[in-house]
Amino acid sequence: MQPDQQPPCPHEENACDHKHDDRRTFLKKSSFLAAVALTPAPLIKAAEKKADEKIAAYFETVPVNLEINGKQHSLKVEPRTTLLDLLREQLDLTGTKKGCDWGQCGACTVHVNGKRVLSCLSLAVMQDGKKITTIEGLASGEQLHPMQEAFIKYDGFQCGYCTPGQIMSAVACVREGHAHSEDQIREYMSGNICRCGAYRNIVDAISEVNKGGQNI
Ligand code: FES
Ligand code: FES
Repeated sequence: MQPDQQPPCPHEENACDHKHDDRRTFLKKSSFLAAVALTPAPLIKAAEKKADEKIAAYFETVPVNLEINGKQHSLKVEPRTTLLDLLREQLDLTGTKKGCDWGQCGACTVHVNGKRVLSCLSLAVMQDGKKITTIEGLASGEQLHPMQEAFIKYDGFQCGYCTPGQIMSAVACVREGHAHSEDQIREYMSGNICRCGAYRNIVDAISEVNKGGQNI
């Protein structure tokens, strides 16, 4: 007999199929048992809890270091996470508002390295190593920022939803030197929409802070 020739099967036809089925079943079972035996227990538990998405998210996150309102944060974020979602969802800094989530309303304005930025249009991973200031970081302890005080003094808000973004933009507007006239303020604040129409009072508040000449 040639080495590659198999000996004829000694069983009757039906019995033979039965035996071959048994062998296949045995091999399947033993492979399955081996796979289970070799799988780490935490992974089995994770699979039981249908945590595959969580596992995928774990391996797909990117380390990011940020200074937010003077405090260092070492975080892991998904590459698609916006700065706005990181602040609100991961860090509970909900003072920064989500209005349109599309770069159209200014409600999400924060400062990145001192410049105003729409956090809904900015990926968190792009801010690695940068300094972020949100509305929560503007005051000094109990002492409100001069722009916050001016907004209160001039009733620069009604519902208040746009107000954190307005104030962050207003501070930047003064720092940029774009608050020397009402027209200039209106132009450089035009990216911040107020559905309550508090514009007149917002302009007055910004004007006063600018005229005060304080180092803000
Ligand atoms: S929420 Fe970012 S611009 Fe509207
Ligand atoms: S105060 Fe209500 S949207 Fe501006």
